[in-house]
Amino acid sequence: MYDVYEVRKDFPVLEKVIYLDSGATTQTPKPAVEAMNDFFYNYGANYGRGAHRLSIAATNAFEDAREIVADFFNAPPENTIMTKNTTESINIVANGFGFQKDDHIITTMGEHHSNFVPWLRQKENGAVVSVADIDPEGFVNPEQIDEMITDKTKLIAVGHISNVFGSIQNIEKIIQIAHKSNIPVLVDGAQSAGHMEIDLAALDCDYFAAAGHKGLLGPQGTGILYIKDPETIQPTVLGGGTTSDADACGFKTKPAPERFEAGTPNLPGVIGLGAAVEYLQKLGVKNVEAHENKLARDAAKRLKEIEGVEVYGPENRAGLVSFNVEGLEPHTVAMRLDKAEKICIRSGYHCAMPGQKALGINGSARASFALYNTEEEVDIFVKAVLDTCQPF
Ligand code: ALA
Repeated sequence: MYDVYEVRKDFPVLEKVIYLDSGATTQTPKPAVEAMNDFFYNYGANYGRGAHRLSIAATNAFEDAREIVADFFNAPPENTIMTKNTTESINIVANGFGFQKDDHIITTMGEHHSNFVPWLRQKENGAVVSVADIDPEGFVNPEQIDEMITDKTKLIAVGHISNVFGSIQNIEKIIQIAHKSNIPVLVDGAQSAGHMEIDLAALDCDYFAAAGHKGLLGPQGTGILYIKDPETIQPTVLGGGTTSDADACGFKTKPAPERFEAGTPNLPGVIGLGAAVEYLQKLGVKNVEAHENKLARDAAKRLKEIEGVEVYGPENRAGLVSFNVEGLEPHTVAMRLDKAEKICIRSGYHCAMPGQKALGINGSARASFALYNTEEEVDIFVKAVLDTCQPF
């Protein structure tokens, strides 16, 4: 296990606040910030667009970062596309898959909007979208997905970990069920990447989307998309970087990953992401997972003991806890915690309205944990809920 107090020295902002909003975005460690500074100070140039030394250095650093990220997920670099966030990754699949009239897509009520709205939008192309239920703890039942499959089902899209309930879905089972009928599966790893070990070769999903700026500790404006077979998706944005030949009669696109990375990419961001993933690898994802889950489970248990507090999600949750305090709006809870102890949590619908509305929850407060949080912070957080959110 790593020393959390040593780790905290790499995240200076943690001296100023109690940061419990890592589900939205994590803090970025010093080595990743330094890697980005190094790009700006020493070799800032464009990707693959020059024969000069700076362009070569920038291109190599970008490709090194891609390799680090691909290796982290046990995926080939050519199947690992650098995007700007989970949302963009999912939209690349939704818009490039070529859904047609009567094609059937299955998603679930447990999704955040990034893995929900792009599929619903395919109705404009005549596709039919079915939405699997979640139970009161936010779990999807793989058997229900099995029953929903028809001979027209073209894709199943499911989140790995619910950003509201912290439930860890049985994606292995869903993939097994889907592949029995040769249906591809997209796994939304927004809340799982960097928070648990993920071996994409073993998992065998067809698409995997994740943010670079959440569990992977990279900067905002970075994301990844793994595509097992890049030929299944047509690029929807074309231009510089995607093209191997062009004249007045037509054009040819490059192979993956470049064909999906049109325009100047986020070079400093991707380089920072590579350094962040190396940092995470040194600490060990299994250690990170155990640490985060313990904090969240302790927090959930202790919040449940407070009268008037309702906690959502299962006992064996991943590293986040959503809750409500009787008589208070979620934003009021968040503002009181900030004012009292500079505690930063998220409040509202967490960009995931369908599941909360289905379970009759009108938004919630959410504390989400990362590798740098401590038991002392959990103590202060629980005490602040008790002290500032009473009487009901
Ligand atoms: N989906 C992100 C969250 O859960 C933004 O906060």
